[in-house]
Order: sequence, then structure tokens, then C-alpha cells
Amino acid sequence: MRAVQVTRPDGPGALEVTEVDEPVRGDDDVLVEVHAVGINFPDVLLTRGAYQYKPEMPFVLGGEVGGVVLSAPAGSSFSPGDRVAATSTIGGLAERVTAAETLTFPLPDAVDLDAAACLPMNYLTMSFGLVTRGGLQAGETVLVHGAAGGIGTATIQLAVALGARVIAVASSPDKQDLARRAGAHETVPADGFKDAVAELTGGKGVDVVVDPVGGDRFTDSLRSLAPLGRLLVIGFTAGEIPTVKVNRLLLNNLDVRGVGWGAYALPRPGYARAEWDRLWPMLSSGALAPPVSARRPLSEAGAAVALLEDRQVLGRVVVTPR
Ligand SMILES: NC(=O)c1ccc[n+]([C@@H]2O[C@H](COP(=O)([O-])OP(=O)(O)OC[C@H]3O[C@@H](n4cnc5c(N)ncnc54)[C@H](OP(=O)(O)O)[C@@H]3O)[C@@H](O)[C@H]2O)c1
Repeated sequence: MRAVQVTRPDGPGALEVTEVDEPVRGDDDVLVEVHAVGINFPDVLLTRGAYQYKPEMPFVLGGEVGGVVLSAPAGSSFSPGDRVAATSTIGGLAERVTAAETLTFPLPDAVDLDAAACLPMNYLTMSFGLVTRGGLQAGETVLVHGAAGGIGTATIQLAVALGARVIAVASSPDKQDLARRAGAHETVPADGFKDAVAELTGGKGVDVVVDPVGGDRFTDSLRSLAPLGRLLVIGFTAGEIPTVKVNRLLLNNLDVRGVGWGAYALPRPGYARAEWDRLWPMLSSGALAPPVSARRPLSEAGAAVALLEDRQVLGRVVVTPR
């Protein structure tokens, strides 16, 4: 079958579209015919050998897909022909992929396969992040960085659905428009966001900051929190891992909380599916609907991954192997 391989750690431009062996389904896996692959920032890092998980090369890139079940374990709740979303860390940028049954999810009729390919990683992460780690309550205010990205748009839609006010930080007017269309109540530019947030909140600050960006905005994020505020550490697209002067936490009664979805969910079979089932009504109603702005064929997977590295994506980009 055709697939997109990382053969050397030289970035998206070095990806190779090639013929590889068919994946072999393990006893607890589902074999999925891939219709769409959601590209995420971890894919960028994997092309450079810079992700926390370092698979042996060559490997097939692609962490989450929307597709149709070809075969499933005996006694499984899945049958051939079922439409699913699935996440597998790697292997998705191919005509077929295997995914653990525990990381394969049924779809409401309202969700098409392009959207399905953009759901598990970010929406499950942010459900865990906002609810379990962030303790978000209806009526609270959330500030989200990188708001027009995958984690950013998932955060906006989930936080709004949970009854929060959302202030979105994005670097360009186009990205701010996208964040508003995703449901953000207000948007502010990345440059000078602290003063803009202070003005929007009447000097009170926000209850939760969601930070998938890191870098030099971290201290201003802490300064933007109200007393008892929580800063959720999601990722570091800016490259630099920030450090915290803990006196800032003491002085204003703040928490910095790590959100590592995989580290929590993967050792707990059933956890991801339970979280998915909690999202089901919001998926069915269309409240959670990833904004897919670009589609590329498998032959252009490298260009699709480069769009993320170059900070060019509005919402999500998917690769369609069929
Ligand atoms: N903790 C977890 O369990 C978990 C799960 C999934 C993903 N993640 C992490 O979350 C982060 C975001 O992933 P994503 O898929 O949402 O990425 P994405 O769609 O590419 O969005 C990232 C956003 O980061 C901002 N950014 C700032 N500086 C950047 C730079 N130098 N290069 C690229 N983007 C930059 C951009 O927004 P502006 O241009 O508006 O600044 C961009 O929209 C990644 O670090 C990923 O590894 C963590």
C-alpha cells in the first residue's frame, strides 16, 4: 500500500511517499481503511526526531485518522463498514492503518470523516485538560494561546460548550477571525495580549490559561490569571520550554498544571472511550466541529506538515489518501 514515511530526521521536506507492507492487525486492534488524516504539531516534531516518542526509522507518519473499519477483534463493538475516528501516534498516513480498539471511536452521523480525523488527539486532550486538570466551571473565563491551531480551536469549542467565556490569542487578523468563527467571545493579538486581557476582564484576569505555545509569553500568562487561576501547560510550539519563578504562584495563589493526555490515558484502557462518550452529545449537536481549512492528497503530505511548521494553518489541515 502507499504510505508516507520518515526515513531521516530532516523535517517535512524529507518525507517520502512510498510502497510499504500492509499493516498486520494485532488481536486487540482494528484495521481501518484511511479516508482522512489529521495533521498535528507532533507530526512536525516526529519528522525532525524532536518528539518525546522516537520511533525507529523508517516509520509511517500520521497520528489520527477518520476511516472505515475493515476488520475488528472477535466480540468487538466494531464491525466492517463502521465509520470511525482512531488515534495511533504513527502509521496513519497510509491507505490502511491498525489502531488499538481502545483508541478507536464510533462517530455520530453528523461527523464526516475529515472532521473525524481531527478529533481524538485535541478534543480528548482538552477534555482532560479543561475538566480533569483545569477544573473549569461554567461562568469562568479561559484564555487560549495558539487559538487558531488544532489545540486552540478544540479548546475554544469545548470551553464554550462547558459554559465558559473564551478570550483567544492569535498572531494575525485571519487567525483571530478563525478563532471567532470557532466560537471565541473575544480575540486579542499575541503581541501585547496581557494588557488587552486586563482591559477585557476589568483588571480581574482569567481563571484558566491554556498554553500550547510556551516560549516568552509564559510570564505574561501568569500575570493574566485571577487569584486561584490555573495555567495548563499543553505544549511548546514556540520552541522554548518556559521556567517559572514560583514566587509568582505564591503571591497570587496560582497553579501551573501539566496536561499530558497520552501519559494519563494510554495506561488506562477504557479511559479514552469514556472521555469520548462524554463528548458524544457535543459531537452529535455540532458544538464540537474541527474547522478543516485545507485538504491535500497523500503525495503532498510533506507540504501539509510544512504548513504547521511554518505557522500557516488556519484551523486544521487533512491529508486524504483516497
Ligand atoms: N499535552 C498533550 O497531551 C498534547 C496533545 C496534543 C498536542 N499537544 C501539543 O500542543 C501543541 C499544539 O499542537 P497543535 O497541533 O494544536 O499545533 P498547531 O495546530 O500548529 O497550532 C499551534 C499554534 O502555535 C502558535 N505558534 C506560536 N509560535 C509558533 C511557532 N514558532 N511555530 C508554529 N506555531 C507557533 C501558532 O499560533 P499563532 O501564530 O497564533 O501564535 C499555531 O497556530 C504542540 O506542542 C503539541 O505537541 C500536546
